[in-house]
Parts: sequence; structure tokens; C-alpha cells
Amino acid sequence: MGYGGSASLTAMSVRLSRDEAWTLLTEWVQSESLRRHCLAVETAMRAYARATGEDEELWGVVGLLHDMDYERHPDLETGHPRVALAELERMDVDPVVIRAIASHADFLGVSRDTPMEKTLYAVDELSGFLLACAYVRPEGLVGLTPKSVKKKLKQPSFAAAVNREEVRHGAEELGVDFDEHVRFVTAALQERAAEVGVDGSAATA
Ligand SMILES: [Fe+2]
Repeated sequence: MGYGGSASLTAMSVRLSRDEAWTLLTEWVQSESLRRHCLAVETAMRAYARATGEDEELWGVVGLLHDMDYERHPDLETGHPRVALAELERMDVDPVVIRAIASHADFLGVSRDTPMEKTLYAVDELSGFLLACAYVRPEGLVGLTPKSVKKKLKQPSFAAAVNREEVRHGAEELGVDFDEHVRFVTAALQERAAEVGVDGSAATA
């Protein structure tokens, strides 16, 4: 291989596999609930990628890693997601992954331009909210309807940490019908219910 070949090699960034991303996440995040959240966002990202003919593994890695520094650096003024961005840059990870993670934090002012960026934002808060809905139902996610999700969204005290405006705005930006979006993400999460901690076991207990 000549000079040109090695030059292009050095310019290439690292593409993380799902396994590598999971290993990285579990190094940075010990909290079971934050790991579950990242798995849930990965699940929704992969489902949307599959449905739209996009790169499922890439989208999944973005979902897995989007909050990787939140446990160690929860301060939004100085920490999350800046520390993750710096670490991924240091690792020479594909810039599209880094940009997508930056764009999910409104306060960094990075625009969401690509379908992957818009999808991350659209599924992040919603996945958390759907899991919160599922936790209080004996059937978990099974039978959870857009109607009941919207009713819960109107109760400020329910899953109060979930930013309602972001849930609504995320779907709008992605250009999907809200009810369809809720149905789609619910179905995706249901496929990996045990992993995200809502296997509906309470229904049979
Ligand atoms: Fe998140």
C-alpha cells in the first residue's frame, strides 16, 4: 500500500460495534435504570432505522451512548454530554455519532439536521415516559394505547421529570403523527421488554 493508502487510513474514524458500545456504556454507567434507559433508546433507534432503511447498528450505537456520561457528569452547565463528546472524539469515533449526541442536548445549540439526529431527540424522553407508564401497569407495555399515554402526559405529577414539551416537539420535528409515534416506540420496546425492565411479569404474579 502506497502513501495515499496510509493517508486515507489515518483519516478514517472508528466505527464502534454494538458490543464495543455496550462495553463502553457499562464502564461509564453503573446505574441499572440509566442502563435500561440507554437500552430503551437504542431499541427505539434501531426500530426506526430498520423501518426507514437506515443503518441500524449505527443508530443503535448512538442510542446506547447518548447519555454515557450522565451518571459521572450530571451537571448540564459543565458536564453531560460534553464529557462524552470529548471522550468519543479522543477515541476518534465517527463524527456523525458525536454530532448526533451533541444535538440531543438542546442547551448546546447544535441543530438536528439528519433523520438520525431527529429520531434520537424524538425517542429519548418518550421512551422514558412509556417505560414509566408501563411500570405502573400490571401488563407492562402490552395494551398501552396512545390515548392513555396522552392522558398521563397531561398529569404533571406523573413521571414529572419527563419534559412534556420535548416529547411533543421531538415528534413534530421528526414529522411523525404523535399517536403513530407512540404506537411505534411502544411496540419496539415491547420486543425487548425484559431487557428494559418491563416484562409484564406483575400480570402473571
Ligand atoms: Fe436520554
